[in-house]
Amino acid sequence: MDSRLGSYNYGAFSSNAEELQRLRRQAEIAWSMEEEYLVAHGLRNGLTVVDLACGPGIISGLIKREVCPDGTVIGVELNEALLAQAHSLAEGVGDAPEFRAGDVYELDCLEDESVDFAYCRFLLQHLAEPARALQSIYRKLRPGGRVAILETDDSLFNCAPEIPDMTRFLETAIAEQQRRGGDRKIGRKLAGLLWENGFHDARTQVVTINTDMISGDEFLNITTSFKLELIPAEDMGWARACLDRAKEAIDNGSFFGQTGVYMVSAERPQTDG
Ligand SMILES: C[S@@+](CC[C@H](N)C(=O)[O-])C[C@H]1O[C@@H](n2cnc3c(N)ncnc32)[C@H](O)[C@@H]1O
Repeated sequence: MDSRLGSYNYGAFSSNAEELQRLRRQAEIAWSMEEEYLVAHGLRNGLTVVDLACGPGIISGLIKREVCPDGTVIGVELNEALLAQAHSLAEGVGDAPEFRAGDVYELDCLEDESVDFAYCRFLLQHLAEPARALQSIYRKLRPGGRVAILETDDSLFNCAPEIPDMTRFLETAIAEQQRRGGDRKIGRKLAGLLWENGFHDARTQVVTINTDMISGDEFLNITTSFKLELIPAEDMGWARACLDRAKEAIDNGSFFGQTGVYMVSAERPQTDG
């Protein structure tokens, strides 16, 4: 496996098609809220925007609509299979973003100081060296440009009724992602990380989502079921049983679940300090 990809390795999922579908659904569900937050953090018509680690490019396409008619969107992705998905999504679409191969640690595919707004969505939680990624993003932003980061923090998850082994399930997934170099509790650390790497004017919003807003099945699918990929083979029995019990509670109407994400943005200062 390419170590630059950290704890996310599309191509090695037990079902890559299902993972792709999850990314699609998650993007579609989140966008109505995400769009508003991105605009509040500075996204607007006319900007040159990069969508870093754009995956299949769905969000890049939605951002393109936001910066039209005068703006530019470049999606950057290291995983070849996902980049191919992004290219095929853009094929024949008049106003599609441009997609480029690139590693967020280097970003050789972008000119220094050429970007107004960099978006980093569910990337940093997978990286062994998030600070090094932020330093490379800093170099690509023009002075006064902004980076916005959407990230998870698993401490925001809770549900009722109590599902046996749910805490063990979540903690096992957190530990395995950490073993692979990632951090599922990175949300709370973002403002500090940005400050340590030269950014200023950090703004943080914590956005919650719950089963009043989306169905229980969707909730379980986009927040929890995919973590089975992080469960060691010897723990699969109780882990699957835990998800089955959550599904039973959803089906009988007794389930409530809530989780949240951090949206944090910060500016590259006009002068380096
Ligand atoms: C969880 S997916 C998120 C994809 C997309 N941003 C979204 O929100 O749907 C993480 C993405 O980061 C990409 N990635 C991981 N390490 C990377 C690196 N060093 N440079 C560029 N992309 C990377 C993965 O290939 C994958 O597309």
